[in-house]
Amino acid sequence: MLVLGVESSCDETGVALYDSAHGLLAHALYSQIAMHNDYGGVVPELASRDHIRRVLPLTRQVLSESGRTLADLDGIAYTQGPGLAGALLVGAGMARALAYALGIPAVGVHHLEGHMLSPLISDTPPEFPFVALLVSGGHTQLMLVSGVGRYTLLGETLDDAAGEAFDKTAQLLGLGYPGGPALSKLAASGDASHFSLPRPMLNSGDFDFSFSGLKTAVLTLVRKQGLEHAADIAAAFQAAAVDVLASKSLAACAHSGSSRLVVAGGVGANTHLRERLTREAAARGIEVFYPRLEFCTDNGAMIAYAGAQRLAHANADLTFAVKPRWELATLDAV
Ligand code: KG4
Ligand code: ZN
Repeated sequence: MLVLGVESSCDETGVALYDSAHGLLAHALYSQIAMHNDYGGVVPELASRDHIRRVLPLTRQVLSESGRTLADLDGIAYTQGPGLAGALLVGAGMARALAYALGIPAVGVHHLEGHMLSPLISDTPPEFPFVALLVSGGHTQLMLVSGVGRYTLLGETLDDAAGEAFDKTAQLLGLGYPGGPALSKLAASGDASHFSLPRPMLNSGDFDFSFSGLKTAVLTLVRKQGLEHAADIAAAFQAAAVDVLASKSLAACAHSGSSRLVVAGGVGANTHLRERLTREAAARGIEVFYPRLEFCTDNGAMIAYAGAQRLAHANADLTFAVKPRWELATLDAV
């Protein structure tokens, strides 16, 4: 089954072609980061307008790169939410219209399901069940995943998301948007032990997180110290955030008896988090799975993949049934 995936929930237009027999055939991404950088964050109206400009050229690109045509498609998957309404409408409108014109099914995909399943786009995917740490700009969740669509929430952030905390801290340190990669780069030249920052909820005994207090602690530190020690502050922040994320993820694995941990979402690209998790997990007999680095942040491949799983399992809905007995009064109103 050949599925076109379209992601347009925020500031990246991602399009990909996934074949359930041959894997990922092509993917293309256009990032609006440079455009939003001037404003210090995503401007929704500008994002929607830019998705309109990019989505069709990217679709033509993945088709031509993989030597396929629209006629080869068996289904189209698009991000249905969560995200910016106008931005989502661009992908959804394009995907639905194209599917209708081609006479093939379209399926709306949950953006976070895309992230969570993204490590499965691999030659050596993790088997179910696994614990997933989902760390994006808008969400921080620990889930127990026992199959596609079989998700149990173990814990989540009570305030800021991990990526949001990286972004806000980066802003306090005078770094650009999005802050995560810039902060992580600056932290590499800093000394994390120079300042001690709180590890909120580290010992709360559950799998919930809180990052807003950490951000406030950085604000207080910046007011006191100025930006002279920015690299040390960045390193101390990263150490604190990673400490909580890693500890709770490993505790969630122990709690659910899982020997597999999947890390997905933008913050999953963080080198410090990866090193720490891989090292500590190995010592506990836990295997950690990450998406390819380019699929940590938003992309079309994860939507095409999740859509392919849903379309494959929606087979029953795609068949038709006759109704030998059918009351006229039971028809749906239009
Ligand atoms: O998953 P994603 O691309 O978008 C959402 O669905 O939110 O995640 C973006 C988030 C941003 O907050 C960004 O700062 C963060 O991921 N991020 C990082 C790194 N790369 C991206 N945070 C820490 N370290 C990184 N290397
Ligand atoms: Zn995302």
